[in-house]
Amino acid sequence: MADANLMEKIVSLCKRRGFVFPGSEIYGGLAGIYDYGPLGVELRHNIKQHFWNEFIAKREDVYGMSTAILMPSRVWEASGHLESFTDPLVECSVCHEHFRADQPESLSEHKASHQGQKVDWSAPSAFNLLVETRLGASAEGATSAYLRGEITQGVEVNFKNILDSMHPKLPFGIGQIGKAFRNEIAPRDFLFRQREFEQMELQYYIRPDEGEGTKQFEYWKQFAFDWYASLGFDTSHLRLRQHASDERAHYAKDAWDIEYDSPMGWKEAWGIHHRGDWDLRRHQEYSGVSMEYVDPETGARVLPWDIECSGGVDRAVLFVLLEAYREDELGGEGRTYLALAPRIAPVKAMVAPLLKNKPELVAKAREVYAMLKKEVPQITFDDNGNIGKRYRRQDEIGTPFCITIDFDTLGETAELKDTVTLRHRDTGEQERIAISDLSGTVKTGVS
Ligand code: GAP
Repeated sequence: MADANLMEKIVSLCKRRGFVFPGSEIYGGLAGIYDYGPLGVELRHNIKQHFWNEFIAKREDVYGMSTAILMPSRVWEASGHLESFTDPLVECSVCHEHFRADQPESLSEHKASHQGQKVDWSAPSAFNLLVETRLGASAEGATSAYLRGEITQGVEVNFKNILDSMHPKLPFGIGQIGKAFRNEIAPRDFLFRQREFEQMELQYYIRPDEGEGTKQFEYWKQFAFDWYASLGFDTSHLRLRQHASDERAHYAKDAWDIEYDSPMGWKEAWGIHHRGDWDLRRHQEYSGVSMEYVDPETGARVLPWDIECSGGVDRAVLFVLLEAYREDELGGEGRTYLALAPRIAPVKAMVAPLLKNKPELVAKAREVYAMLKKEVPQITFDDNGNIGKRYRRQDEIGTPFCITIDFDTLGETAELKDTVTLRHRDTGEQERIAISDLSGTVKTGVS
């Protein structure tokens, strides 16, 4: 990564152009909490939709779910998170700020900030990341609940409901997208490590068998990698890395990360975990409800194994923006543009009259806009400023197409009547196409 200021440029672009704002900013904000603006929410929606299509909707063997954020403490006792979902915490003797003991870089950065003062670190203690809350009107009757620390547990506790209602045959999967909450000791790097974030996950249940486990694990590792790359990454900027045994979460028999070559170094984008029967066995034990799958042919009862694909939505938003950011020269002028994969671009096309003070051009542009918007909802109309400026504004937010209505569209040159200019974001090249071909061309270009 050549550009040392890339992260700052992305943070600033996100705020300036309405992608992401610091949460509750007018009150000073909350560390690790962000709000999504009009462009960010579309980008995030497109990433999630792409996940939902490829991991769930297009597959016969996967069901979708949407489970609750609040879950009782018993769930987290059973899942092992109350005991083991911890990070090592240390305190600075000078300013009493807290840090993660396993992040030596931020420790030395902080030490240096105290310029010459002697900094001692407290002995590391295990800090639990779960966010607790209380439910109920009276102080005495209130019960403790947790905002889920991973969306996974919503699926695991519903395993029997899915068996009883859908009657699936192994192997089969359950996918969902939703918010997770972690009281991160040191939220940092913008959307990378937040306290409130969204996850997209698949739990894929298989027969408990080593050979089947290896086969499915390899399949999902590659599937997740290919899917992540399809968000618009150069595959040389992604890699798969296996966790060392002391790095794995308490539930994992084997774990691999898809990592991205970010300005902060190679960082986790996505996890593929072999959870074995950890979750189902523990929930069976703690709830007293059988989680066994009964083989419809043999009648054999088994506790399936779970191969998990788990990715952060916000982290994907950050990484696609870092990957897409470009500065170049076009027509002798410097410009900034986002080379986003068209399928996830928040705005697919801008429709514009060449001149805003010619009512006949504006009327025709409005007509084309209304026609196209029915087919491709994520488009925008812009008649503000000269056309070059409008193109630059769209380039900066990654809009793949700009469509301009001019006098030729109205028939000034007879053979060009009912055609428009279609401009391509990455090259700035323009072509003339018939209005009747517009929706087909744009749809194909963003699919
Ligand atoms: N269910 C498995 C699980 O939650 P994880 O590795 O802890 O595994 C999965 O999290 C993904 O969620 C990560 O790869 C990352 O993309 C995202 N993620 C985790 N913690 C995050 C945080 N604090 N902020 C943003 N995204 C986070």
